[in-house]
Amino acid sequence: MSNRIPESFIQDLVLRSDIVQLIDGYVPLKKTGRNFVACCPFHTEKTPSFSVSGQKQFYHCFGCGASGNVISFLMEYAHKNFVEAVEMLAARLGLSIPQGDYNAKQAKHTSLYDVLRAAMDFYRHELEQDRKVLTYLDERGIDAQTAQRFALGAAADQWDRLYNHLIHKKFSAESIAAVGLSARSDNGREYDRFRGRLMFPIRDRRGRPLGFGGRGLESITQPKYLNSPETPVFHKGGELYGLYEAEQLTRTLDYLIIVEGYMDVIALSQQGIVNVVATLGTATTSEHMQRVFRLTSRIIFCFDGDSAGQKAGWRALEAALPVLNDGLEISFIFLPADEDPDSLVRKQGKEAFNAYLDNAMVLSDFFFNHLSQNVNLETPDGRAKLASLACPLLEKVPLGVFRTLMLDELAKKTRLSASSVQKIVPSNPAPVFQRPSDGASTARKTPVRLGLALLIQYPHLVQYIENKTLFKEVVVAGIELFAAVVDYLQTHAKQTTASLLEHWRNQTEGRYLERLAVEELMTPEAGVQAEFKGILLYLQKLAAEQTIEMLWQKASSAGLSDEEKSQLQLLIQEQKK
Ligand code: UTP
Ligand code: MN
Repeated sequence: MSNRIPESFIQDLVLRSDIVQLIDGYVPLKKTGRNFVACCPFHTEKTPSFSVSGQKQFYHCFGCGASGNVISFLMEYAHKNFVEAVEMLAARLGLSIPQGDYNAKQAKHTSLYDVLRAAMDFYRHELEQDRKVLTYLDERGIDAQTAQRFALGAAADQWDRLYNHLIHKKFSAESIAAVGLSARSDNGREYDRFRGRLMFPIRDRRGRPLGFGGRGLESITQPKYLNSPETPVFHKGGELYGLYEAEQLTRTLDYLIIVEGYMDVIALSQQGIVNVVATLGTATTSEHMQRVFRLTSRIIFCFDGDSAGQKAGWRALEAALPVLNDGLEISFIFLPADEDPDSLVRKQGKEAFNAYLDNAMVLSDFFFNHLSQNVNLETPDGRAKLASLACPLLEKVPLGVFRTLMLDELAKKTRLSASSVQKIVPSNPAPVFQRPSDGASTARKTPVRLGLALLIQYPHLVQYIENKTLFKEVVVAGIELFAAVVDYLQTHAKQTTASLLEHWRNQTEGRYLERLAVEELMTPEAGVQAEFKGILLYLQKLAAEQTIEMLWQKASSAGLSDEEKSQLQLLIQEQKK
């Protein structure tokens, strides 16, 4: 959607808005030194770690890691989508958004939401008289109030009942197909995707249905659950079932339970355990983890006790490691074999489930128990095996107290000294430049990285870059991104950190640049210019060395032209200076 509004207009909005004023309207800010602070609106805390910089036009929470510019704030805090956030900012500044494709595209999305909403309403209405589905709900112990709260519905066992209804309501055949509610048969007739199923709408935090899950009523129905496909408004890898319903009932999510199934969410919620969500039949992703840690600092995963549950639990742990900043807490419940939260809470009641909650296994225990399976810690071989399994995983954990504790624990178990463990788990994992999307906030502090961080935090430094070809000459990790940022700044005057990052929104490098933008640099403000010039000089020298090396090699193989010979001489002379 975003690329439909001219980028120059968005840049202009970001440059003209004042982030301090904007955020202060929602979250009262206090001035401390150059920045403004408050208790973070994205997680629960008692002492302020949320900081807003007027100079960078950027906010950052040292507690939960939330960060961004004015647009990000409206998206995250006020739950606006990108276009809505842009509209709000434009309205504040009294600007109107340039017309173009964007309006058509926006209207299209609006109507996709409308189709889904109409379908949800229809399914709900149908439920009232659908004996089969009502009986099914009854058998599964779901009461009318809960069914209502989750907006459950019924898809009748007919070929095109929903389709006809929506066409009658003047929705286009294309839009019905676009949200995955209909498909076309070989003989060219449209038919409903969901037939003879109990329907679960999957809603976003604002309550808009994005898609559906449908449960077959018979035990032989295949598949047991049918889900909406990925559509322009529905991305399964990031959405959570039940979040809207949970937030309706609890204003603050002190903790959040993540279960596997729709029915688990509903059964727990009906029993009064309402802080509960499910992934949509997919494995837990880092994207999920990042989203939930914006909402709460405590997550409890609940898996079935079988081996599939263990596997799913381990995958969730792996997804969590890169986002495990200090202050966040994850634990795991593995239920007895053949039970899921739904069956357990129905048989044994709320208190029994709460007892599992109280005894949930903390992440570090799950981590070491899991890795120590089939490893004999009494032997040096076994201990070496444990170290080799644990190290690559612990490398992913952000630097901090939690990471240190995990390393201490590993040291204890392997009987290595803490310092040798520190050595095998480097605090500088593989160069982040090549994998900018992998959440590691623990990157190597290379000159290139520092130079890029300085440039992002102080975009005016671009004026000190005199040698325009420098970035093409030198070969070093991360230089391409550095060059791209330089190029952008050289072609777009008067940028701030916030407007620079806006350009990289939705790109893989964006998140990495964002981390650099909020990184605390050791350079005092007065030394920034000198530091940056020093890095340029370093790159210049590196480029010279590399060219000399290349020319020497060529001299001993193909031989040098006269021009190359004098270039080599010149470079060597300069190097001596
Ligand atoms: P489960 O098989 O554990 O089902 O799938 P369940 O939640 O216990 O369902 P009931 O109690 O038999 O009704 C867990 C989740 O995996 C996804 C769904 O999101 C389901 O809630 N799933 C499962 C599918 O998408 N398709 C399937 O065929 C099965
Ligand atoms: Mn179940």
